[in-house]
Amino acid sequence: MIRAGVLAAAALAALLAAGPAVAAENRGDPKRGFAISESCAACHEGDGRSTGYRLYPRIAGQHYEYLVTAIAEFRNKERRQTMALHMMWDATAKLTDQDIRDLAAFYSGLPW
Ligand code: HEC
Repeated sequence: MIRAGVLAAAALAALLAAGPAVAAENRGDPKRGFAISESCAACHEGDGRSTGYRLYPRIAGQHYEYLVTAIAEFRNKERRQTMALHMMWDATAKLTDQDIRDLAAFYSGLPW
């Protein structure tokens, strides 16, 4: 148990030292995020609640930092997809770092 804890702490330290793929410290612009969220709404819906098809995760109200990291990891093909259909790889392929921050600002500001 203790050994696993030490390993987890070491892994976290390594992760933090490497830093996220896209820096989250410059807060994105939620208005611009909304403007470019149309393609996301096809699956996650306009309010980000993804109620239609329940294998699509709810992203409304999620933490800003988590969204930045998750979207950037999909774009960079670092995050494997459960459904293996490349839906998120395709959806995020052309996003810039600023697009990612703006989308994260938009969705994190919506009610859960
Ligand atoms: C074709 C459908 C589709 C489109 C379009 C789409 N997504 Fe997704 N999204 C998914 C699916 C399916 C998943 C779950 C991926 C998996 O299998 O792990 C997901 C996962 C996510 C996650 C991870 C949520 C979590 O809790 O870890 C985020 C964040 C996200 N999408 C944001 C976006 C954004 C932003 C856009 C627009 C740029 C977008 N998605 C466009 C289908 C889509």
